Amino acid sequence: MQLTPTLSHQTQQKAVQTPNDIVQVNHITRELALGNEQIPILRGVSFAIPRYTWTAIMGPSGSGKSTLLGILAGLDTPSSGQISVDGVDITHMDETKLARFRNEKIGMVFQSFNLIPTLTALENVEVPLFASRNSDRSAARAKRMLELVRLSDRLNHRPNQLSGGQQQRVAIARALVNEPNLLIADEPTGNLDSATGEAILDLFDNLRRELGLTIVIATHDPAVSQRVDGILHLADGLLVEESR
Ligand SMILES: Nc1ncnc2c1ncn2[C@@H]1O[C@H](COP(=O)(O)OP(=O)(O)OP(=O)(O)O)[C@@H](O)[C@H]1O
Ligand SMILES: [Mg+2]
Repeated sequence: MQLTPTLSHQTQQKAVQTPNDIVQVNHITRELALGNEQIPILRGVSFAIPRYTWTAIMGPSGSGKSTLLGILAGLDTPSSGQISVDGVDITHMDETKLARFRNEKIGMVFQSFNLIPTLTALENVEVPLFASRNSDRSAARAKRMLELVRLSDRLNHRPNQLSGGQQQRVAIARALVNEPNLLIADEPTGNLDSATGEAILDLFDNLRRELGLTIVIATHDPAVSQRVDGILHLADGLLVEESR
């Protein structure tokens, strides 16, 4: 299903300049060394993700979802195959360039939030701004992101003073502060009760419309399948079913 979200002027311009698929993955494999053995984790996976869609990656524990998301986010490199994000082949990009590319184009939300415990919510959201070329490094943007995730009243709380759902929302605000095109989240509702999980999913739904985002999440949550535009089913390192 193709979406017709409300896009900002800036996002519409970006969309015209690039082809319809934001992610293209061609036959990627990932092997990991365990002692002397090479264990195949991903065994040849190919797919494309259209812009402005919301895709879920589902499959049993150990099927390779997090490994695949790490590669999509440019945090890991495939053993073979090719991956392009936003029209750029990142497969063999050097680490410095890749770090900049990630910082500008990709927002990543980790399952365990990965917030810095000694920093406040606002300071956590500001962190990616310091690594970016964006001249606007003010706290104003970080604040705006925390408003978007409805945490304006918790700016100066540290992670241990926030609930799980609130920490997850700080992690989402941090992932969005550099205005990425692609938001990747690994089991964003995995640690939350079902009502808080639903609220996070509502938030994703709103954000992709407001910000013109493409969202990819790994999930075990059957409620997600009702909301997304496409599902990639992984089993044992292979894409076994794709519904869109
Ligand atoms: N560093 C590593 N060394 C060796 N094997 C690994 C390593 N990291 C992951 N694996 C293996 O890779 C496989 C896929 O792991 P991955 O974390 O991608 O699965 P997943 O689908 O995200 O599972 P879950 O639903 O439990 O999060 C697993 O069998 C795991 O044991
Ligand atoms: Mg995982």
